[in-house]
Amino acid sequence: MRKKIVAANWKMNMTQGEAARFVESFLPDIDEINDVDVVIIPPFTAIAKVSEALGRAHNIKVGAQNMYWEKSGAFTGEISAPLLRDLFVHYVVLGHSERRTLFGETDEMVNRKVRAALEAKLRPIVCVGETLDQRDKGNWEKILTIQLRGSLAGLKPKELQDTVIAYEPVWAIGTGRNATPQQAQEAHAFIRKILREMSDDTTADRVRIQYGGSVKPENARELMSQPDIDGALVGGASLDPRSFAQIVKAARQE
Ligand code: PGA
Repeated sequence: MRKKIVAANWKMNMTQGEAARFVESFLPDIDEINDVDVVIIPPFTAIAKVSEALGRAHNIKVGAQNMYWEKSGAFTGEISAPLLRDLFVHYVVLGHSERRTLFGETDEMVNRKVRAALEAKLRPIVCVGETLDQRDKGNWEKILTIQLRGSLAGLKPKELQDTVIAYEPVWAIGTGRNATPQQAQEAHAFIRKILREMSDDTTADRVRIQYGGSVKPENARELMSQPDIDGALVGGASLDPRSFAQIVKAARQE
């Protein structure tokens, strides 16, 4: 049984003060929950504040939204995996569609980052997903195959098992238009099939695949009750502690 994983991708939002206030009101709401992995992914500038507000004992992990593949050196403006580890970061989002389209990240770059993250014992959350045009042309399977094979190239089974995949159809991100549970399940099952081809049955069955794209309290439960949907990567609705807590609760298997 795969443990669900629900992550808050705050993108370029939240000051330190706002982040601390979020944690303060979010924590009591999900206090009892330990059957779902919860990850908060602030901008770099609020990571330390969130870690501090959470306290080290709590069952919520902190993530980062990006990193560079080199460990250190003359790379002005970049952040490395060891620097993230230094802030008690456990997860890192890699290859988000905003990074791919606005900042020119390719599958090859994402792959270098994924390997560097795993080497530093960070768990990558690797995003894949097709655009509306690609879906309309019937190309989504081809696009997902290229992205998965490129971004995850060379990973050993154990490394794949430590990796989380986020299926985020680009047409559903920030648009209010989520994939239907059936569309999402179809894509997730397809992703698992590709993972099986790239590794083995056990590995493919263990990898957690999150859905992302306009996840809200109202649609979260139905999406996450699909057999191959193992959680959610939540943007807009994760900025509000109440709605993010509702989404976390929607992931519980009762
Ligand atoms: P959204 O963003 O929930 O605002 O659609 C999801 C994401 O980009 O991870």
